[in-house]
Amino acid sequence: MHITSLSASPSERSRSAWLTQFALTRLEGRASHHHDILIRALPAAELLAADVREPAIAAAVLAVEQADLVVVSTPIYKAAYSGLLKVFLDLLPPDALRGKLVLPLATGGSPAHVLALDYALKPVLSALGARHVLDSVFATDAQLRRHDAGGYVPEPDLIARLDRALAPLASFTPHTRPQPESALSC
Ligand SMILES: Cc1cc2nc3c(=O)[nH]c(=O)nc-3n(C[C@H](O)[C@H](O)[C@H](O)COP(=O)(O)O)c2cc1C
Repeated sequence: MHITSLSASPSERSRSAWLTQFALTRLEGRASHHHDILIRALPAAELLAADVREPAIAAAVLAVEQADLVVVSTPIYKAAYSGLLKVFLDLLPPDALRGKLVLPLATGGSPAHVLALDYALKPVLSALGARHVLDSVFATDAQLRRHDAGGYVPEPDLIARLDRALAPLASFTPHTRPQPESALSC
């Protein structure tokens, strides 16, 4: 399975980026190819200008196009996903997510915004052609405690929700890859 992850936090020590890496470890070597895209590391001026000819941006777009599974992770900012994520999603071609599995992940300070992925991000994923969206996983900061040695410690409930979201991937083979014309959801 070709996996591409998009991490959309501007922070260097990002909880949502850490959650992305943790999710990938739960897939236990199912990735044949893996691309991590840290959107904050892309060249800012070219990103804002949607310059898809810039080599790092072109490589990031290609990695999304080649993926079977796209992990989209974001911090919750002002009750929605981050502006960094929107800037990147806006430069993807139409239907960039059609025929792909998509896993939305978010971290937020408040459980009050647990639905932000549903009301803010999912319509955008749908506009990009995503029809196979796995269960979203939202973690509050309290569910991802800082570890003294770096990184974070996920609460057991969070690990259980993540594993449930990833469960449909256990039966993934190139033959079961979602077909673009299919309207079924996982
Ligand atoms: C500018 C800004 C706006 C934020 N707005 C919200 C918000 O509306 N709702 C919420 O639950 N958390 C909010 N937070 C908290 C972050 O979502 C939270 O700390 C998250 O885990 C940060 O993820 P990151 O470490 O990947 O950047 C905000 C944080 C910042 C810096």
